[in-house]
Amino acid sequence: MNDALSEHWQALKQQVEEALERFLAVSSDCPDRLRESMCYSVEAGGKRLRPVLVLLACEACGGQIEDALPAAAAIEMIHTYSLIHDDLPAMDDDDLRRGRPTNHKQFDEATAILAGDGLLTRAFEVIAQYVRPPEVAAACVLDLASAAGVEGMVGGQMADLQAETSGVRTVEELEAIHLRKTGRLLRSPLTMGARIAGASPETLDRLDQFGKCVGLAFQITDDLLDMTGDASKMGKAVRKDAAHGKLTYPGLLDLEESRRRAERLIEEACRSIAFLGDRGHRLEALARFVLERDH
Ligand code: IPE
Ligand code: IPE
Ligand code: MG
Ligand code: MG
Ligand code: MG
Repeated sequence: MNDALSEHWQALKQQVEEALERFLAVSSDCPDRLRESMCYSVEAGGKRLRPVLVLLACEACGGQIEDALPAAAAIEMIHTYSLIHDDLPAMDDDDLRRGRPTNHKQFDEATAILAGDGLLTRAFEVIAQYVRPPEVAAACVLDLASAAGVEGMVGGQMADLQAETSGVRTVEELEAIHLRKTGRLLRSPLTMGARIAGASPETLDRLDQFGKCVGLAFQITDDLLDMTGDASKMGKAVRKDAAHGKLTYPGLLDLEESRRRAERLIEEACRSIAFLGDRGHRLEALARFVLERDH
């Protein structure tokens, strides 16, 4: 990552983490164990890529970071819930996440399921309550719900699990899974950030295209890192996909072809926001980070 983005990313990450802390300080009606379990996974960290994308998109469209913080915190809550459930024994059955024992290992399965449910629901509560004006809040709820739901992440996760046993092994099928299970949650930060900044429909479309390409490339590099990455850098187990019979890019194509596809997607992503000129440079740098990343 270039130095200019790296510094800015750290500053935005800090603001996101403070916002998460504020928005997760829910009423005393929430059982302590549930709050602890939700906070355990959120506070474990991670790159905060999705919330940072909300803030960068808002900034690139001339908006104020403060106005985008509720949507940024909300998408990180949804993402963290998706990871807690993804790691459950009935799904990918993982023991390590963000460098810590997975939520169900630290607590128990029922608590992990409920912590995920709590984060999912709280995300929409935060947007409805704090994004202004109400028309923009409603549009953000729609973006995020369709990205996280059955046509997005949840549907993609179902297809991902079915592909373990269905025998489907085509690139088209794989792309359709990745676009939903990971792609949609990386597209919605761009549209939410742009909406909060009051961007035009044309700008929203271009940013949506950027997010679609970055989202697909991101899951391709996740698949590559499962094969070639280092567990201590990733904070999660590696070399698990093949053992689970997962449909992945390097499992279907070779490593080089997978990498070339990710590179082509990032080039396309950068072309779709070229119209932003200098205002798009940070988004471009973030897109290139997706290719170089080792975590
Ligand atoms: C991991 O996402 C799950 C995928 C969608 C591939 P990240 O790599 O963004 O995980 P964190 O948030 O940094 O832990
Ligand atoms: C998960 O994809 C995508 C989600 C919706 C959470 P993976 O199962 O490949 O993510 P990791 O590798 O466990 O982070
Ligand atoms: Mg999975
Ligand atoms: Mg997994
Ligand atoms: Mg993976």
